[in-house]
Amino acid sequence: MTATIESLSQMEVRRGTLAPAPPREIAVRVRDLIKVYRDGTEANRGISLEVRRGEVVAIVGPNGAGKTTFLRQLTTELRPTAGSVSVFGVDAVAEPERAKRAMGITPQEAGVFERLTVREHFELFARLKHLSKREAREAAREVIEELGLSAETNKNVGALSGGQRRRILIGLALLGRPPLLVLDEPTTGLDPSSRRAVWSVIRRAVAVGATVILSTHYMEEAERLSDRIGVIAAGRLIAFGTLDELLVRLDRSYRLSYRDPIDPSSDLKIRYCASFAQAQQHIARELLSEYSIARASLEDVYFNLTGEPFDKDEAEAIG
Ligand SMILES: Nc1ncnc2c1ncn2[C@@H]1O[C@H](COP(=O)(O)OP(=O)(O)O)[C@@H](O)[C@H]1O
Ligand SMILES: [Mg+2]
Repeated sequence: MTATIESLSQMEVRRGTLAPAPPREIAVRVRDLIKVYRDGTEANRGISLEVRRGEVVAIVGPNGAGKTTFLRQLTTELRPTAGSVSVFGVDAVAEPERAKRAMGITPQEAGVFERLTVREHFELFARLKHLSKREAREAAREVIEELGLSAETNKNVGALSGGQRRRILIGLALLGRPPLLVLDEPTTGLDPSSRRAVWSVIRRAVAVGATVILSTHYMEEAERLSDRIGVIAAGRLIAFGTLDELLVRLDRSYRLSYRDPIDPSSDLKIRYCASFAQAQQHIARELLSEYSIARASLEDVYFNLTGEPFDKDEAEAIG
């Protein structure tokens, strides 16, 4: 059946009546993106990737890796030094206004108007997105409910907790249901329950057709929320794929964490092993008493790619 359809469409293509069906539409296409800041900092050094419609792509990397620089070029806030960005086929460098219309954006740092109530805040931004008064009211109501902020509707934004404010910023990106959401560290600094609330908001947006590009320095977030993960280090995209695709690049995919039995007060040590059995052999040979064995994770991929641990950065971010 499939073969018949395929050969039929191939015939049509040969006759020039039909274009070959694309496997899945590309939402964002980035080619050789370079950003050199005025002071000479090379923040992005040639990044290329494609994001398909309906995908959630997480960009991970430690502070200073170039994530924000990358996202701000996608959202047209920053002009690339070289390279191209297209958003649903629109050249974002040549036509930033048009490209931007397809996007909802949550910047890493953004102010809120403390004196406005939650509802006023959303209505104002909906109006700025050219929604009519009625549409704005309706969009605000929907987003407030979706974000679990109904009880805060008439509170001043200035009176909200950090987690609630962060949710407001994400809500602003959702207004008007843009097909592409670009979220720079949407959950940084949130407590676990606010983080989960944000995740479910993002998942719901995807369920109704949105494409999402977000950055995070929480590896767990990338693992759990995204379809594909791009790892940025020192301005370069050093890996891009599904978690499984990234994990198979590790030839030693078991992580043994242990304390040195001779110096138990020292830091945890890490050793990568090809198999569970090999980890056990090491434990027996070294007479380890305090240890754990785990399957490798995205953090291990990062460590293997860069030679640097990832959690160092996370500890700094929390501390
Ligand atoms: N406006 C700027 N001018 C000069 N350097 C900058 C500017 N913004 C960011 N940088 C530098 O560019 C690099 C990448 O920063 P950034 O994109 O913010 O990384 P990330 O979001 O991954 O933490 C860092 O070295 C940072 O100090
Ligand atoms: Mg950043």
